[in-house]
Amino acid sequence: MTGTGDTDPVLAAQLRYYRERAAEYDATSYGDERAFVGPVARTIEPLGDVLELACGTGVWTRELAPRAASYLAVDAAPEMLAFAAANLDGPDSTAVELRCADVFDLGLGREFDTVFFAAWISHVPPDRFAEFWASVASVLRPGGRAVFLDELPERARNETELAGSMATRTLADGSRHRIVKVFYDPDDLVARLRELGWETTVTRTPNDWFVATARPAQRQG
Ligand SMILES: C[S@@+](CC[C@H](N)C(=O)[O-])C[C@H]1O[C@@H](n2cnc3c(N)ncnc32)[C@H](O)[C@@H]1O
Repeated sequence: MTGTGDTDPVLAAQLRYYRERAAEYDATSYGDERAFVGPVARTIEPLGDVLELACGTGVWTRELAPRAASYLAVDAAPEMLAFAAANLDGPDSTAVELRCADVFDLGLGREFDTVFFAAWISHVPPDRFAEFWASVASVLRPGGRAVFLDELPERARNETELAGSMATRTLADGSRHRIVKVFYDPDDLVARLRELGWETTVTRTPNDWFVATARPAQRQG
């Protein structure tokens, strides 16, 4: 499955960008902030059966998977998954299942206690926000929750070309790509998710990321 987003030109172009970026992703993402990943990951518990969406090269996967009951990590870019497989090639990672899948067409037939995604909600097209959250709800077990991280608006300064919800990124070969990039204000995010039936709590990290936990409101005890 490599044709994700075929019918949505914005998603298709974004996926092409990440497929082409895969080889340089680890050198260009998180940078010297990678140190925050481990401590933040350790605050996410309990994990139970985990589905990670848009796992990329496995930056978070390798931190979370050893504490999970089971771990399925999906991404629509086979190139990203190849790097994830290499990065996860250790004794703690044997239980990680990597699968090429589109977050908008998961078709998993399974439910999970935790649906996790990092640096992904900012790349969901605003007009597909509700559809995305319906997809998350469809794979959550009763009592389960979504845990997700992304960049706060303070970090928009790091985008050299940002216009509305679209950013233009340049890869090492000079190719330029338009991707979705939405910097959510936590209060707005909580309000938007409440409209969709989710109860959400958000905390900020010192380096201007947020960590959010969202539960379907009707499933709360
Ligand atoms: C910003 S990266 C985040 C990767 C990883 N979560 C991290 O924090 O390093 C976004 C990821 O989304 C993946 N992606 C893009 N479109 C997708 C889609 N429709 N379904 C699943 N994954 C997708 C890309 O291949 C890329 O790995």
